[in-house]
Amino acid sequence: GHVLVLAGGLSYEREVSLRSGRRVSEVLRAVEVDVETRDADATLVPAVLADPPDAVFVTLHGGSGEDGAIRSVLELLGLPYVGADPDACRVAYDKPTAKAVIRSVGLHTPDSVALPKETFHDLGASAVLSRIIDRLGLPLFVKPARGGSALGASMVRTAEELPAAMVGCFAYGDTALIERYIEGVEVSVSVVDLGDGPEALPPVEIVADGGVYDYAARYTAGRTEFFAPARLTPDLIAACERTAVTAHNALGLRDLSRTDLIVDADGQCHFLEVNVAPGMTETSLFPMAVESAGRDLGTLCRGLLQAAAG
Ligand code: DAL
Ligand code: MG
Repeated sequence: GHVLVLAGGLSYEREVSLRSGRRVSEVLRAVEVDVETRDADATLVPAVLADPPDAVFVTLHGGSGEDGAIRSVLELLGLPYVGADPDACRVAYDKPTAKAVIRSVGLHTPDSVALPKETFHDLGASAVLSRIIDRLGLPLFVKPARGGSALGASMVRTAEELPAAMVGCFAYGDTALIERYIEGVEVSVSVVDLGDGPEALPPVEIVADGGVYDYAARYTAGRTEFFAPARLTPDLIAACERTAVTAHNALGLRDLSRTDLIVDADGQCHFLEVNVAPGMTETSLFPMAVESAGRDLGTLCRGLLQAAAG
């Protein structure tokens, strides 16, 4: 049999997804897996019906790739796939909803306001924004409630910067998540489960050139410095790992995920978001964590596919 790697899609992260798909396909071929790569378009259903794969690896980022929609199609077709099911994706991909779940299990996540575009315009932008600053203070971090790769996301240090940040955010989504910005060490923790329960890979520390880990900083080699494992005390490393595994479990995720968080000066971990289809590009964090653990990405992906295929 063969496996199917799904990459591309129509989200703003299409280019990133194509790179992730290429990488996963390459590392799988390197461990002797027969791989077919496809886009998530209308040709998908007839193709998999004609020649069903043993299992599917979803490297679609953003939109239907992470909100559960494509996985519902895979469920309908009876195809096993790596990663969270549609219901869990729906909750995890919507950042305000995910944050509410995270708070309910006792983890910290920055105070925030979710603001639909209509409300923003109906209530009057300046009135809304001054109320938000009164409540959350400054600096703030603004991002689409549903998105990825920092598209439409920006740091807001002064009140004057907030309106432009909102416009940039609404270019990528209909609801904005406005969060209090927490100063600290930016860390990303990948979680994998090959059937024996979720385990955290070494936390990766992110030091973006210029301080903001934006789209260019993510996908331009050399623009960001990474430390894997993170330069934190063993206690803090363990706290980051616990946060990621707790988030993975609380959100009902499966097989793999990646949680992004901030460790503040007091050593408190603050959950920012979780990714159900973590980036797999040459500069992405999940493959870095796998390498830092001394493991092989191809072997790991093959293991995840085998576990999914049962
Ligand atoms: N959304 C991108 C692909 C990531 O989280 O890696
Ligand atoms: Mg993300």
